[in-house]
Amino acid sequence: MKNFKLLAIATFTTTTFLFSCGGDEKKETPATTETPKSMLEEAPTGKDAKIAAGKAVYEKVCQACHQADGKGLPATFPPLAESDYLAADLPRAIGGVVNGLTGEITVNGAKFNQAMPKSTLSDDEVAAAFTYVLNNFGNKGGEVNEEDVKAVKK
Ligand code: HEC
Repeated sequence: MKNFKLLAIATFTTTTFLFSCGGDEKKETPATTETPKSMLEEAPTGKDAKIAAGKAVYEKVCQACHQADGKGLPATFPPLAESDYLAADLPRAIGGVVNGLTGEITVNGAKFNQAMPKSTLSDDEVAAAFTYVLNNFGNKGGEVNEEDVKAVKK
């Protein structure tokens, strides 16, 4: 499942190629605009595909609260950017997303006492979103798998 997006693209490309030999089937270019970084740094891997998928999840879901720059909003939404709360205990942070999170927490020295609703995303999507967050916003990197999400789910 980890590589489903890549597989889907590969299958699509191959299929399009095979069909295009026979006639004038429309050949669409797979969208690659989301992963310019992977082209510069290293050959695409499962992790790069996951980061790209996670970026889409982040923009669709998490960004509304944690903001496009990951810095959140004072006293309302805690930052994911360089978050010490996230760095200190990754399973706890994943648990907050899949189970919901309420009560007072301290992130980078600032107190928050709000509520994050339990996500309705698939385990795969949560894993991808966290992988994206860990590799952006000044965080230290890393990768989260579906199994890591399942493990903290209540
Ligand atoms: C509806 C708004 C909302 C959405 C959507 C949301 N969060 Fe949160 N998130 C919060 C709030 C509010 C808190 C703090 C809860 C508290 O005060 O106990 C929080 C806390 C966190 C924390 C722990 C504190 C920190 O800053 O490190 C993490 C990690 C986190 N969210 C990640 C995510 C991810 C990843 C997504 C998308 C899959 C997401 N959140 C979606 C509102 C949201």
